[in-house]
Amino acid sequence: MIEIRNITKLFNEGTVNEKIAIDNLSLTINDGDFICMIGANGSGKSTLLNCLSGSLIPESGNIIMDGKDITLLSQHDRAHEIGHLFQDPLAGTAPHMTMEENLALAAKTGGWLARINDKDRAYFKEKLKKLDMDLESKLKMEVGVLSGGMRQALTLIMATINTPKILLLDEHTAALDPQTAEKVLEITAETIEEKNLTCVMITHNMQTAIDMGNRLIMMNNGKIILDLNKEEKEKMSVDDLRDLFRKNAEMELDNDRMLLL
Ligand SMILES: Nc1ncnc2c1ncn2[C@@H]1O[C@H](COP(=O)(O)OP(=O)(O)OP(=O)(O)O)[C@@H](O)[C@H]1O
Ligand SMILES: [Mg+2]
Repeated sequence: MIEIRNITKLFNEGTVNEKIAIDNLSLTINDGDFICMIGANGSGKSTLLNCLSGSLIPESGNIIMDGKDITLLSQHDRAHEIGHLFQDPLAGTAPHMTMEENLALAAKTGGWLARINDKDRAYFKEKLKKLDMDLESKLKMEVGVLSGGMRQALTLIMATINTPKILLLDEHTAALDPQTAEKVLEITAETIEEKNLTCVMITHNMQTAIDMGNRLIMMNNGKIILDLNKEEKEKMSVDDLRDLFRKNAEMELDNDRMLLL
């Protein structure tokens, strides 16, 4: 279980450009939760995931993972617990290394790169075969020559090869063509189910957020303004979600006004 307790993340603190990207936000992520996160540009979605991965440290509040306070733990020290995928297929892999070397690094056999053995290769091939992209025949190929979709699928395998405590997906299909995006989403759902992973996935596709996962969270101005469970979200249409967004974002505005009065 991951508990995010009252975290606030500011950018450009103390300057005229000060921005509250995350505003006293609390969230409990249960083991096995697959949360789809939506919200307008700049609402703080990526910042929240970056606080979870440790690439950003919040100014206040705490992040507790399985009872341990990891708020100030460096990104490096929590990397083995957390898988993080981004929109850019170039992020997360070493382009001039081969697929098998990338996989070996992800599997933490890094010191043994020169000694990747047939057993390792068989294991990597078995994982890649499931993607149904013929990647298993390309183990010796440099990752840089793969297509964006192939790379995102590979990155997903790399990020989950050691079963992280949480998988963070930041619009990881947004840069792909619609058909490839659908394929990578399918692989995502299969991987999460097979490994029973806990996952937060940011998407701008409201229908995807309704269809996938067991929870839907909507962010606005650094706050969570909607948190629906599976039954609640499955009853929703995209139009319902848009209406709820308008209503809840306005309510939040009203609350802020009330606080100011
Ligand atoms: N490194 C940074 N320095 C300054 N401001 C930042 C930085 N990163 C994010 N911000 C600001 O914090 C706010 C939240 O940004 P964030 O990237 O988390 O939004 P988002 O919900 O992921 O948006 P999008 O849907 O466009 O990806 C925005 O106002 C953004 O400009
Ligand atoms: Mg973002």
